[in-house]
Amino acid sequence: MNYIDWLKHKDLEYRQGILYFADLNTIEIAEKFGTPIYIINEQMIRKRYRELKDKLNSVYKKNRIFFAVKSNTNLAILKILSSEGSFFDCSSTGEIYICLKSNIPADRIIYTGNMFTDDDFEFAVKNEILVNLDSLSQLKRLAKIYEKIGKEKIFISFRFNPEFGAGHHPHTITAGKEIKFGILEHQMIKAYSEARELGFKKFGIHQHIGSGIIDATDYEKPTDTFIAIIGKIAKILGIHFEFVDFGGGLGIPYHPKTNPIDLNKYGEIVLKKLKVVVEEGDIGDPFLFIEPGRYISAESSIILTQINTIKDNGFKLFAGIDAGFNTLIRPTLYGAYHHIIVCDESNKEKVSKYDIVGPICESGDVLGKKRELPELSEGDYLAILDAGAYGFTMSSPYNSRPRPAEILINDGKTFKIREAETFDDLLRNQLVPDYLK
Ligand SMILES: Cc1ncc(COP(=O)(O)O)c(C=O)c1O
Repeated sequence: MNYIDWLKHKDLEYRQGILYFADLNTIEIAEKFGTPIYIINEQMIRKRYRELKDKLNSVYKKNRIFFAVKSNTNLAILKILSSEGSFFDCSSTGEIYICLKSNIPADRIIYTGNMFTDDDFEFAVKNEILVNLDSLSQLKRLAKIYEKIGKEKIFISFRFNPEFGAGHHPHTITAGKEIKFGILEHQMIKAYSEARELGFKKFGIHQHIGSGIIDATDYEKPTDTFIAIIGKIAKILGIHFEFVDFGGGLGIPYHPKTNPIDLNKYGEIVLKKLKVVVEEGDIGDPFLFIEPGRYISAESSIILTQINTIKDNGFKLFAGIDAGFNTLIRPTLYGAYHHIIVCDESNKEKVSKYDIVGPICESGDVLGKKRELPELSEGDYLAILDAGAYGFTMSSPYNSRPRPAEILINDGKTFKIREAETFDDLLRNQLVPDYLK
């Protein structure tokens, strides 16, 4: 894909030198709302959801997409996806709370947590949320909570760890013997037989091998292992599955030299394999679930930021901006690449290499290293791309810098969907004992 098409894929283009996002002039948005600021393109969320839904429908009709809420918890985003018919994957009771507040019905939520407390289980059981267990040891505790609350045990699911994962960084690979997630193969039969003995009647199974997978063939080996354990459980215990959940992980092209993940290949490698075993008739007639976060939300957002300092220290050129790792932590946390572009490229012929750095009092506050950009000046605006997944949700008020606002674009109009935090928000939950007043 050439660079212009790569930008267009993200609904970005230059018109007479000015960057437009979702058909709107980014400089006008920055000047109207201030910076740093998250800008979210509603139609991109819908587009990515529909692309996946169409792919699933074409291969395996009985399917459900559970949006991974951890990637973006904004109520407007959840409402947009709800209106598309999405289901929701939550990793904490807080995420479930947000979904319920957004009027998402309980039967559209799955709780794929880890290191569950009894309070987590109580919250889930009381709210009738399907739990996806992460450890055999959690099963008896969950059963007890059902009994204490007096609710019938119906659905249960376990997260399988296929011992082989993938992802854009070691911290996002979520399968393997050394990894905390899921249950290894030798405990899987025990998990389902104990669950049945404890009174659970309907069964699902889950795996999530990692995040940021751009080559669909990375799914091949873990999918084969997953299909094999599903067949084994069905054969040994006679269990028929209500759903098979392949998790999320689909990556997006953060770098201009990266192409989008090949959904046809993903269909062949993951989705069709389930179809084949289902047609063999031994595992039941399950729903196929997937739990994408990044694929749906990442490309929907950019961060607009303003340059306040150009520093040439004699060795290096720094462009200092008003967004830091408090605003977007992925570059610092994972060494993740986010493409950064100017909002006005007119009259800029000379190109230099800059480190794009934030205002946080740490040397690791670097949003982009050695970026070739047209000559920058203090006051210029930049756009940090693909910030919609694990962007705002991982932001913090570190250095007592209030978190920014979020603006939704739809149909050429802008809507504020989150106020910027204030200094008073930073103080809101602090208490000073009387003797210190
Ligand atoms: C269980 C589970 N499902 C889904 C996801 C979503 O992953 P992604 O945003 O890469 O699709 C994650 C991410 O951590 C996860 O842990």
